[in-house]
Amino acid sequence: MYEAFFSLRENPFGTTPDPRFLYKSRAHREALAYLAQGIFLKKGFLAVTGEVGVGKTTIVRAFVQTFNPCLEVSFVINTKVDFREMLYMLLTDFGVEIKSDSKVAMLAQLNEFLIKRYADNQNPVVVIDEAQNLSPEVLEELRMLSNLETNQQKLIQIVLVGQPELWDLLQRDDLRQLRQRIPGVCQMKLLSREEVYRYIRYRLAVAGLTNGQIVFSENAIDSIFELTGGIPRLINMLCDRVLLRGYLQRSRAVESELVAASAHELGMHASPRTEGRRAAGGGAVN
Ligand SMILES: Nc1ncnc2c1ncn2[C@@H]1O[C@H](COP(=O)(O)OP(=O)(O)OP(=O)(O)O)[C@@H](O)[C@H]1O
Ligand SMILES: [Mg+2]
Repeated sequence: MYEAFFSLRENPFGTTPDPRFLYKSRAHREALAYLAQGIFLKKGFLAVTGEVGVGKTTIVRAFVQTFNPCLEVSFVINTKVDFREMLYMLLTDFGVEIKSDSKVAMLAQLNEFLIKRYADNQNPVVVIDEAQNLSPEVLEELRMLSNLETNQQKLIQIVLVGQPELWDLLQRDDLRQLRQRIPGVCQMKLLSREEVYRYIRYRLAVAGLTNGQIVFSENAIDSIFELTGGIPRLINMLCDRVLLRGYLQRSRAVESELVAASAHELGMHASPRTEGRRAAGGGAVN
């Protein structure tokens, strides 16, 4: 709606995880490095956790897109399932034609598939998004999948991606065997104030911003940081509203008053940062 007014080619603050808009904050760079190392060194299990909207799905998709030709990836996005259903989904996504949907038969097919891929020097990866919804029973059965291995390496890499509850789930005593197989969980941090500024500039540039068409004051950036806690999804929602209001007021200068009014309209009041700190603070990979 406001794109033409600001001379933008497209909406800079859309809410889909589009890799073209990927801004590599410190947390995002660390997550990419963690994934690359774990997957290419065939560690077997990886886990990426982080606050709602921090960019977990975005970063995993960007990683897969970057390495697409040399990775065979099955994406599991429905996690309120039992293990049999999970097997069905991941085999189907790998393109395997399922002969019988009994658990035993599907496990045998998976094994066969993985051995073939190993012989072809392929590295199949399963990404399970929203993994905080998995039941402990399914997680325990997934652990068994990592027993499919040669003497040197795992035949399948499993990446669990989820909200901070995934971290809590992995702390359960009955899941300690799984936990021990994960080489450090990557806990994604929220953006710093400086990164919030760069993030906004970056997304505007990708959307086609030319110099001087929109100017955010220092105070406006401070307010955005405070109100969103450095969570990209919230930054997008807020900046989208800010630009809409700016357009309606025919103003290309973004001041903190405009940010405050936009946040008020969205019902965005306090910073979620304190709440997010549980997942975000304390080192990215530990
Ligand atoms: N590094 C980034 N660069 C650009 N945009 C980002 C980045 N990280 C997140 N975003 C944007 O923030 C929004 C939320 O990202 P995403 O869906 O990846 O979050 P999530 O952590 O998977 O959230 P949820 O816990 O709800 O699944 C998306 O619109 C995405 O484009
Ligand atoms: Mg997600």
